Amino acid sequence: MATTAAPALRFTRVPHPAPATAQVRAEVLANPGFGTKFSDHMVSIEWTEAEGWHKAEILPYGPIALDPAAAVLHYAQEIFEGLKAYRLADGGIALFRPEANAARFNASARRLAMAEIPEDLFVQAVEQLVLTDADWFPTVEGGSLYLRPFMFASEAFLGVRPAKAYRFMVIASPAGNYFKSGSPAVSIWVSDYTRAAPGGTGAAKCGGNYAASLVPTAEAFARGHDQVLFLDAAEHKWIEELGGMNLFFAFDDGSILTPPLSGTILPGITRESLIALAREEGLTVREERYSLDQWRADAASGKLVETFACGTAAVVTPVGKVADHNGEFVIGSGGPGQLTQKLRQRLVSIQRGEAEDTHGWVRKIA
Ligand SMILES: Cc1ncc(COP(=O)(O)O)c(C=O)c1O
Repeated sequence: MATTAAPALRFTRVPHPAPATAQVRAEVLANPGFGTKFSDHMVSIEWTEAEGWHKAEILPYGPIALDPAAAVLHYAQEIFEGLKAYRLADGGIALFRPEANAARFNASARRLAMAEIPEDLFVQAVEQLVLTDADWFPTVEGGSLYLRPFMFASEAFLGVRPAKAYRFMVIASPAGNYFKSGSPAVSIWVSDYTRAAPGGTGAAKCGGNYAASLVPTAEAFARGHDQVLFLDAAEHKWIEELGGMNLFFAFDDGSILTPPLSGTILPGITRESLIALAREEGLTVREERYSLDQWRADAASGKLVETFACGTAAVVTPVGKVADHNGEFVIGSGGPGQLTQKLRQRLVSIQRGEAEDTHGWVRKIA
């Protein structure tokens, strides 16, 4: 659906009448967990065919009213993004590659037949919320403010066609560790279910993909694993990605491999950043298909030395153990490998403004 030209939108501000007290906030920020606590405000912007993007507001965080016939509740026309704001050592605040999230958001919008949002408006909305709720940064080591921009079809209409009204929102959640287990390396379960098929919505960040992943994820948890791994739909042979992260494999010849962007996996921004950083480290990076059988064989022979998962929420996380119906295998020592730790450190230090940002990835907003 066509984008209206970037409007010079002014945000209306409605301050929260009863924001969290300093004590409540301090308790949340000392133990934020992941995705359960939210800052005092939220952004809302509306789109209609007639008016384009309008009614940009910063509102008190809280429930929203929806018509029961709103198309999102019936046909799941919904997309989202996930990115983090970091508090820097000098007290400033930075976002990591928000333009890349904006571009991916619009790619998702196109796949779901939704209105696209001007990239600068997307970034502005995120910035406005972070600056409004700048006292919501966790005080724990490794903490950040997780931002969740999302958009849904708000038109009240039960016909099956692209909606003619959308609402874009951003909420913010102080975030600590993504994995509850706190273990140094995660354990993953290879699912029998399929996440995405060729021609489907696997490369879009739409809620429906995650709805379909809940049963497989619950199964992985019930079996005692931290995450679920999906194989390709056609042959159930090739490694695609985890429920919420991309995967990398490191070999004893100094090369690393990650599955290609075939249209069925999410094009991770962390994935793309790590490819660039690994190449700078002199590593050969291959974007190639890799089968589960080969992975198991390479882990046994010692050819494969490390495997790590990556994404905004979990950053870079070592994979220690893999299981399916045929049994388990262990990667390397079963704990974090050297390359995984080095790449994680490289990325985190750029994100937190501790290392030089030669790529222009860090956007300082305060
Ligand atoms: C299915 C899936 N794959 C990969 C990723 C990693 O993407 P990014 O690095 O942009 O966070 C995510 C998280 O957004 C995801 O949900």
